[in-house]
Amino acid sequence: MNILEIKKLSVDILSQSIYLPILQNIDISIQKGEVLSIVGESGCGKSLTALSITKLLPEKITRYTSGSINFLGEDILNYTNEQLMNVRGKEISYIFQDPFTSLNPIKKIKDQIIESFIIHISKNKKEAIEKAEFLLNKVGVNDIKTRLESYPGQMSGGILQRISIAMALMCDPILLIADEPTSALDVSVQSQLIELLMDIKNENQMSILFISHDIGVVSNIADKIVVMYAGQVIEESNYLDIIQNPLHPYTHALINSIPSLDKIKDGSKLESIQGIVPAPQDYPQGCHFQDRCSKSIDICSHKKPEYLSLKHRKIRCFLFGDKSHD
Ligand SMILES: Nc1ncnc2c1ncn2[C@@H]1O[C@H](COP(=O)(O)OP(=O)(O)OP(=O)(O)O)[C@@H](O)[C@H]1O
Ligand code: SF4
Ligand SMILES: [Mg+2]
Repeated sequence: MNILEIKKLSVDILSQSIYLPILQNIDISIQKGEVLSIVGESGCGKSLTALSITKLLPEKITRYTSGSINFLGEDILNYTNEQLMNVRGKEISYIFQDPFTSLNPIKKIKDQIIESFIIHISKNKKEAIEKAEFLLNKVGVNDIKTRLESYPGQMSGGILQRISIAMALMCDPILLIADEPTSALDVSVQSQLIELLMDIKNENQMSILFISHDIGVVSNIADKIVVMYAGQVIEESNYLDIIQNPLHPYTHALINSIPSLDKIKDGSKLESIQGIVPAPQDYPQGCHFQDRCSKSIDICSHKKPEYLSLKHRKIRCFLFGDKSHD
């Protein structure tokens, strides 16, 4: 069963008096208990997609121009403000990349961690603290009583990110959105925290949307991988197919640019993707990847490829399908 189904979602953001089409026809769905990973280089629109799911983008400069975000059978785009407040932090919660900026530096950990529980579950502070202690223990935080009375600046990034994970789990969310939750941390702490998230997911039957610019990081944990490029989803498949047989030229290039110990040992050169991801104001008329694609054909420069289903995969590229998408 899909708990979240985003269909043809397009979002514009007002920047210097012009609305920029930052997300275009996004299609993503997540099943109960599934880990779906969004990958892509920096600037592809991963965080904007994550924020748009519960309408966290600044209201005054954002317009949703098409599509729907169906969560448990209802379109979040039709939610009232009260319904949005109810879903955020309770049924859908977030962990962000940098715990130093996502936690309030002048508020004790205790007050921050129990906040969503007090708002959504129960006003009983003792019950909230007990739940916080239980979760902090689970995510491997030591000396819990002292930590609860401390401020974020008194702890390392690794401990703070464990606290952020516990905080995101306080209301037993149905969907956890983790936006590069470990990329600011040492590699050894990264893998510990990812393992921890997977254990908790399996215990709670929670779904996870795990965002990373590094396809190598998510390859062991994701059931499904969605690849984004310049504001669009360009390929989706299960992780084995994506890793072993990437179809889209961009996915192919991403996979080939992953450093591996084998490549380092046998001295093979790492392949980098030439050029950069265009900014939304520079998205081209045709395929967004055309300037960096070694396989482009005539049609790529003036028509946008559609997002097509190919058996159990989905792809946006003229090399697949009938080469005449609109
Ligand atoms: N308020 C805004 N106004 C104009 N452009 C924006 C705004 N916010 C983001 N963008 C642009 O939208 C694009 C996508 O941004 P986003 O933050 O979603 O990328 P990302 O894939 O999360 O990258 P990273 O891996 O660096 O976190 C980028 O080109 C970014 O510069
Ligand atoms: S549509 Fe054309 S330019 Fe775009 S990825 Fe496919 S071949 Fe390359
Ligand atoms: Mg981001």
